[in-house]
Amino acid sequence: MIEERNAEQEQKPRLVILISGSGSNMEAIADQVRKGDIDAEIAAVISNRPEVAGLQKAADRDLETQVVDHTQFASRDEFDAALMRMIDQYQPDLVVLAGFMRILTPDFVRRYQGRMLNIHPSLLPKYQGLNTHQRALEAGDAKHGVTVHFVTEELDGGPNAIQAEVPIFDGDDVDSLRSRVQKQEHVIYPIAVKWFVQGRLSTDGKQALLDGTQLPASGVVLGS
Ligand code: GRF
Repeated sequence: MIEERNAEQEQKPRLVILISGSGSNMEAIADQVRKGDIDAEIAAVISNRPEVAGLQKAADRDLETQVVDHTQFASRDEFDAALMRMIDQYQPDLVVLAGFMRILTPDFVRRYQGRMLNIHPSLLPKYQGLNTHQRALEAGDAKHGVTVHFVTEELDGGPNAIQAEVPIFDGDDVDSLRSRVQKQEHVIYPIAVKWFVQGRLSTDGKQALLDGTQLPASGVVLGS
């Protein structure tokens, strides 16, 4: 009995990280887990694309990796059902979308509601969807940034947890802006994951809450 209780007490919150590409956000989170700054266990890193660099980076860190290849499924529903089965094997407390480039079905989103985060390279609600850096440059914006938000059925529309702002300078192009934004991605995503596993970050479905207090629509805003 006592042994059982000890085993329960020792169990850390479990993360499943979904990727589609280079996996730099996954790495940033994994670094903090390894250092003990995030007190959690990465149960698995799952990609919808085989042979992406992020899978190799995860394997190099001795993380469990899985592929659920979306091209092998006839419909989005079938893919999402298979992905859910894969994720649920690992019984995650938090699902972390880290550059996971698939639109998710409502069933999928509902299943992990309140325990699924995404990172999006804009100051949401500005620039939902793709090509955010290009759009910020074309609009002549003075600043741009990145947002970690809870996932709801609205694409890139769930409650914001944290944003980081970056300036846009004369002469910036998509690459220079992307790299400035990505530095901030690797700062704010680990913070959001840390707050979640500490039980500090949650959502009531409309807003994000930090330590039980509703955050503004922007989430916590960090300057660069
Ligand atoms: C990031 O820029 C993120 O904002 C976007 O996709 C990119 C993923 O990069 N959603 P990585 O795979 O984490 O390196």
